[in-house]
Amino acid sequence: MEHKTGFCLETIPGNCGAVLFGATGDLSARKILPAFLNLHRMKLLPKKFYLAACGRSDFNSETFRASIKEKLHRACPGVSGEELAAFLARISYFRADYSSPLFFSGLSAELDRLDAENGVYKKRFFYLATPPVSFLPIARHLKESGLLLEPGDRDGWSRILIEKPYGFSLTSAMELDKELCRSASEAQIYRIDHYLMKETIQNILALRSVNNIFECTWRRGFIDNVQFTIYEELGVEGRAGYFSSMGTGRDMLSHIFQMVAIIGMELPSSFKDAEFKQEKERFFSAVRKFTASDIVKNTVRGQYAANDRPAVPLKGYRQEPGVEPDSVTETFFAFKFFIDNDRWRDVPFYVRVGKRMAAKQTKIVIQYKEGDGGLFGFAGLDYSNTLHMNIQPEESLILSLNTKHPGPKLCFTKRNIKLNYRQHTEEYDVPGDYERLLLDVMAGDRTLFVSSGDMNFMWEFITPILELWKERPELAPLILYPARTAGPKEAGLLIKRDARKWL
Ligand code: BG6
Repeated sequence: MEHKTGFCLETIPGNCGAVLFGATGDLSARKILPAFLNLHRMKLLPKKFYLAACGRSDFNSETFRASIKEKLHRACPGVSGEELAAFLARISYFRADYSSPLFFSGLSAELDRLDAENGVYKKRFFYLATPPVSFLPIARHLKESGLLLEPGDRDGWSRILIEKPYGFSLTSAMELDKELCRSASEAQIYRIDHYLMKETIQNILALRSVNNIFECTWRRGFIDNVQFTIYEELGVEGRAGYFSSMGTGRDMLSHIFQMVAIIGMELPSSFKDAEFKQEKERFFSAVRKFTASDIVKNTVRGQYAANDRPAVPLKGYRQEPGVEPDSVTETFFAFKFFIDNDRWRDVPFYVRVGKRMAAKQTKIVIQYKEGDGGLFGFAGLDYSNTLHMNIQPEESLILSLNTKHPGPKLCFTKRNIKLNYRQHTEEYDVPGDYERLLLDVMAGDRTLFVSSGDMNFMWEFITPILELWKERPELAPLILYPARTAGPKEAGLLIKRDARKWL
């Protein structure tokens, strides 16, 4: 039998222009512009390409380039002066007024000029990295100024790439969808969840698909429970304005459920947009919604408080600049839920997400059911296996096995098989999450973007929880936990009362 050991497919996007709204914002400086620069360095940007950066600050192209030079150096320490200069030369800046039709008609003329200069004809994507209040005005003006071509237009294409938060509740997300669809069709809308772009998250789908030993046992009957941890060391870091209206529940909602779907969904018949989204939505429809008593029993919300123990004492959330001293915004959220389908019936899924935790750690752990030990049942060991999928900062897979010690004595112990996801230096220099999403939008691949159906499910799931927390706070009180610790002990109790523990 012939075994193919390697397969490699790379999509290089065709020539196009990128229009970045919100170019002077924090996200652009930290993630988006460095991602463009990295693609430029890796020679993954199209040959004919330009970046039209639009922001409200008063820059011209030259002063804008100067303003980001240092930030790009910091974000991409390996970049050479030459590479940076060549990248900056591809950027033009336009001072924006998102409410003015004049700005958009002027932009339209400028983009035509850039198209002609760069040999790119009306193939453009518009990246909305502004605060959400500007999403709709931008989309509307793009349409009215003729900047959005119809899908299927022979001459070119227009795509809208949209950052989170996508709405604030089910009603506002649906409203946003309705309004957005007046300007663009669903096929032109790319809703970002950068977790789907993380290498290690995508590797989970690959792990399930191309390793039969996992997919065969990826179900009830074999699996006892599944655990998701998304812990950050950072607090709100100057984003109090945004965070106070979101809280961890809304802020991390999409990341949580995209990770849950990658674990729980059926594998689609092909890795194509429509099939992938269809299976994901089918999976979401099987997630059991919470009743009021589920919310009381199966959710925990917390907020980080001051911690005077470290040499440099840490502020609590309420002491952060811009936060109300009596804020009840949650910075920690844990919950347990079930999936009502054949694969997962009665298997509990546990999730815990928090800011200002002891360390940054994103991982998914599958705990397999305990066997009876067979021949060695008399030893009374813990016979369950676990599969740790470490997503960040460590990127690895760890499978725990029960093994016999070498030697004539009959002793058992748990040992781990560990696979570091990146084993060779060149495997570190691959496109990261933001680079990947730019590549995909340029290539017109919507597979790893979020559908409006996904969004609606997520808001439907969380809205009753948020409402109960607000309207009957005494039923699910906010628990304070000291900053940079393990979080509220109630999150431990949530799993302990099922005779399990967080792994
Ligand atoms: C963002 C949230 O979407 O994800 C932030 O708005 C959060 O609050 C961030 O810190 C976490 O992303 P990552 O990639 O650092 O895990």
